[in-house]
Amino acid sequence: MTSWDLNNKNILVTGGTKGIGKATVVSCLSLGAKVLFTARNEVEVNALEQELKATYTHVKGIAADVSDPTDREKIKHWITDQWEVLHALVNNAGINIRKATLAYTEEEYQKVLAINLLAPFELSTLLYPCLEKAEQASIINVASVAGSLDVRTGSPYGMSKAGLIQQSRNLAVEWASAGIRVNTVSPWFTTTPLTQNLLANDEKKSNIIARTPLQRVAEAEEVAAVITFLAMDKASYVTGQNWIVDGGLTANAL
Ligand SMILES: NC(=O)c1ccc[n+]([C@@H]2O[C@H](COP(=O)([O-])OP(=O)(O)OC[C@H]3O[C@@H](n4cnc5c(N)ncnc54)[C@H](OP(=O)(O)O)[C@@H]3O)[C@@H](O)[C@H]2O)c1
Repeated sequence: MTSWDLNNKNILVTGGTKGIGKATVVSCLSLGAKVLFTARNEVEVNALEQELKATYTHVKGIAADVSDPTDREKIKHWITDQWEVLHALVNNAGINIRKATLAYTEEEYQKVLAINLLAPFELSTLLYPCLEKAEQASIINVASVAGSLDVRTGSPYGMSKAGLIQQSRNLAVEWASAGIRVNTVSPWFTTTPLTQNLLANDEKKSNIIARTPLQRVAEAEEVAAVITFLAMDKASYVTGQNWIVDGGLTANAL
């Protein structure tokens, strides 16, 4: 029988200092996991590690940019050195540059694709040997409703998230025999630093809420709860799916 906890699980959360990533770090730690989290800002990484160490023993932060091959090697080195085995990889780090399609420079759209789409692929393949060793492992890719619908995020963001949803399906099928489940979590608007400015605009916020059957945006903890479930052995028969956490948005035609 599996239990509703993450005891003895080693989990990597990218983009763990803020928003959905931070809520996931805390949720996994509170259920007994050992957690490694990453983000680019070293001061924020160190500050969060210190804050969490007051409550949890097994937490480590590493300053690393997921789109940088050297930084990805740094993450792999820490995991192989300290854990050998990785039970769950949460590819959460993501950015957006919101513009009209014709206004993007090549550098801008390449950056969105490099962080949101290609880095999860690179990290999943780089860490495959550590995930395979776990025998029961889980990759959770954090995409967005914007990967399925136009929600005015700008096309590169939508493209990156649509690609990530399909990446999960392909790897789920290919790696099932290695005991690695792969799922996507697709949030709708969630209160985090990423959406702070947009949600501060009353007109935009009421437009979003009017289309959302639950009549509010999500809290980061509500998305983290689904990610956390997918990391558990309780989700052992779930793979290749896109878990849409949207307050009913995509069920609502009118
Ligand atoms: N909030 C929403 O409404 C919403 C809706 C749908 C989907 N999502 C997706 O959910 C995920 C988390 O979003 P969020 O709202 O929690 O974002 P957030 O508040 O902006 O936090 C993003 C986190 O990722 C880190 N990060 C960004 N780029 C990185 C990189 N290249 N390498 C490593 N870490 C990086 C950030 O730290 P540093 O800046 O220090 O690196 C931060 O810790 C993203 O993939 C986003 O696309 C969010």
